[in-house]
Amino acid sequence: MKLIIDDGNIENIKEIYEYFEVDGVTTNPSILAKQGKNPKNVLKEIREFIKDDELHIQVLSNKASDIEKEARIIVKEFGENTFIKIPSNKEGFKAMRNLVKEGINVTATAIYSPMQAFLAMKAGAKYVAPYVNRIDNLGYDGLYTVKKIQNIIDTNGFDTEILAASFKNSNQALSLIEYGIGALTCSADVIRKFVDDRNVDKAVDDFAKDFEKLDNIKKTMI
Ligand code: E4P
Repeated sequence: MKLIIDDGNIENIKEIYEYFEVDGVTTNPSILAKQGKNPKNVLKEIREFIKDDELHIQVLSNKASDIEKEARIIVKEFGENTFIKIPSNKEGFKAMRNLVKEGINVTATAIYSPMQAFLAMKAGAKYVAPYVNRIDNLGYDGLYTVKKIQNIIDTNGFDTEILAASFKNSNQALSLIEYGIGALTCSADVIRKFVDDRNVDKAVDDFAKDFEKLDNIKKTMI
């Protein structure tokens, strides 16, 4: 299962890469706008740092033909392991089908229902990205929706994988890690919450205090 960083802040990305085994970065227009810099430069900085890992970049165009043009430019600029995030609506499905035929990696995004995911799978998307927390906020069950999508993949033998997105806490992520899906993308803030060092630090501190009772204590075990 892949763990991807849903963030555009290069310092956050560097920190998460330093401490954890992660597989790439996802972005969206809001994430890039938040950086307050030229989005192309932000993406270039990310690509340079993550080297050949997955980089997911969302198109802004709405019409299929414009999405296709935008996608080709993005892939030319950011390389092969770039996934074009395309909203899963009618124009989006049309663009996905054409881009997949050209060998471009597609991440079908803004998925709120299993039927949308099914259409994206049929269109040949490599990933479908259901929005867990946003589905919850609509009064539906985001985790249940993801599990239903995984069942569609398993029972029909689709090659598409789930890239679950929109997490607000580590418990939502854990539920899907236990279930087993293709990938999760979480902000640096949520990934930091995967582990609470305070409990570990307390235990380590207690061990050290016990050890200090020995004569001739050293700072290392041997
Ligand atoms: C990823 O594909 C989405 O852009 C992102 O996870 C949405 O997350 P949000 O609901 O926290 O904005």
